[in-house]
Amino acid sequence: MAWAVIPPEPQPVVAPHLTDYSTIRAGFSWDAARGWLDGLPDGGLNIVHEAVDRHVAQGRGARVALRFLGEGGVDRELTYAELAEQTARFADVLAGLGIGRGDRVFGLMGRLPDLYVAILGTLRRGAVFCPLFSAFGPEPVRQRLQLGHGRVLVTTPSLYRRKVAPIRDEVPDLEAVLLSGGGPGAADVPGGRDLAALLAAASPGGAVAATTAEDPALLHFTSGTTGRPKGAVHVHGAVVAHHMTARYVLDLHDDDVFWCTADPGWVTGTSYGVVAPLTCGVTCVVDEAELDVDRWYRILEEQRVTVWYTAPTALRMLMKAGVERVAGHDLSHVRHIASVGEPLNPEVVVWGQEAFGRPVHDTWWQTETGAIMIANYPGVEIRPGSMGRPVPGIEAALVARDADAKPLRTPDGGPVFVTDPDVEGELSLRAPWPSMMRAYLDEPERYAKAFVGEWYLTGDLARRDADGWFWFVGRGDDVIKSAGHLIGPFEVESALMEHPAVAEAGAIGVPDPMAGEVVKAFVALRPAYQASDELRLELIGFGRKRLGPAVAPRDIAFQQDLPKTRSGKIMRRLLKARELGLPEGDLSTLEGTSEGARQ
Ligand code: PRX
Repeated sequence: MAWAVIPPEPQPVVAPHLTDYSTIRAGFSWDAARGWLDGLPDGGLNIVHEAVDRHVAQGRGARVALRFLGEGGVDRELTYAELAEQTARFADVLAGLGIGRGDRVFGLMGRLPDLYVAILGTLRRGAVFCPLFSAFGPEPVRQRLQLGHGRVLVTTPSLYRRKVAPIRDEVPDLEAVLLSGGGPGAADVPGGRDLAALLAAASPGGAVAATTAEDPALLHFTSGTTGRPKGAVHVHGAVVAHHMTARYVLDLHDDDVFWCTADPGWVTGTSYGVVAPLTCGVTCVVDEAELDVDRWYRILEEQRVTVWYTAPTALRMLMKAGVERVAGHDLSHVRHIASVGEPLNPEVVVWGQEAFGRPVHDTWWQTETGAIMIANYPGVEIRPGSMGRPVPGIEAALVARDADAKPLRTPDGGPVFVTDPDVEGELSLRAPWPSMMRAYLDEPERYAKAFVGEWYLTGDLARRDADGWFWFVGRGDDVIKSAGHLIGPFEVESALMEHPAVAEAGAIGVPDPMAGEVVKAFVALRPAYQASDELRLELIGFGRKRLGPAVAPRDIAFQQDLPKTRSGKIMRRLLKARELGLPEGDLSTLEGTSEGARQ
């Protein structure tokens, strides 16, 4: 079905920052965008100066920076001035623990004030912050803490007990555990300290560390098809891209009330739930609770949210609840709605118009890109189903792939581009740009493999229409996208294989009307075990306990002869094609087992 183009919506109150895409794009330079920020003396750059201190210096310290809505309705606000003070205290706590430039501080917490203070306080100190999603189980927590050599962890007593205590012996680099809301329990935790007491005793006035634009700031683990999670390293200089996209894509103006619903455990929640909006001096709403239809509409209304950045899964859930649930709420102040993280169906774009009088603006980016790369802009027409066009300063192209899904190269080693409109290729971006990851932590070869020449290969397949709009086709590899979260099948398979009954496992994503995809695992049993419903439930429970609800398979099926390549790798692509009843594609590498007989 072809969807009608949605013309630019009227913008009666606030004129968008970006009205004429082509002109702004043509006149844009990253150097000029750097000039929108202060910088530090001697040419340095620190995210916290741009996000917090400079607003205080400019006399806007009394403005609310973060407004926390607690699960039990207990609200707390932090003004920019208070945030400067609290983050200085946190930085001083780190100094007292001997944590300095480049050391890694991890966070494992819900969306509570201490998490935000810890993120910004760590950056203020010049140390590197690595968020962990609070719905991770002990296994993803262990792996990331180990790979990142975390020296400090900020968490709550309850999360510590459930997710860290079981793996504490396996993370010897971890020296200090700062417990939020956890005075009495701290003595029972190795390295445990009561964060509130430390903050109260710390100095409130320290300056931001004199970092350079190339100093590491954030470490975000993301998942690939094989092997361990990849630690994407981001630098302080990324703030230039955060700020620019906050202005041009999210259209943040100084007086906005902004709600980014993403959790800081993932890149959207740090880049656009913390850094980008604060650089614009706006008020950010942070809701501790999970999605609840009526609560969300109430928040939009009562907080007088003007710009809302959310996810397709959330929007689909709201849509399913019915447009009548919006009625009775005055949402007239909501000026701009955008989403990210997974394909945004055109139905949802159009539903936004019906429900809120505003279409939803799709934006595309990845953990690796650090900031929004392709977007629909307020004030510019929308082609429902399209991710939009590259942000100013970003060049995007499609690279042709060979039969093995490898990028095609020209004789001099460069990429072969798809030039015809509406032809599929691998979405690629020309490096560098300020928020591009600078490394996969300790894995230079893996990093190098992500490039052909200066072109970064995203792993996504897309098409571009004749006018330059990009259309998402799908992932070019086996990673799974569930409710906007990227899940590595290898991580799921490895965890399942730790169960004594499991000989082999293959994990795939199967379509789900709400979450986009959910994880399904196929398991071959060891000889002593029999497939049964009981064992299936046991394995589902085992996966959930180890991996946590964000990663664990929703369903498990038994299959003794998992399809494999001749080199012994499980062919997830084939598992998926068979599960979905799709063409099986090229089977020339299939191992000559009973499966091979089907060739
Ligand atoms: O496959 C694309 C999908 O999410 C992947 C990146 O996931 P992650 O690193 O977890 O970052 C998510 C938030 C920035 C991409 O490679 N993706 C992201 N945005 C979209 C999308 N797929 C379709 N449409 C989008 N707008």
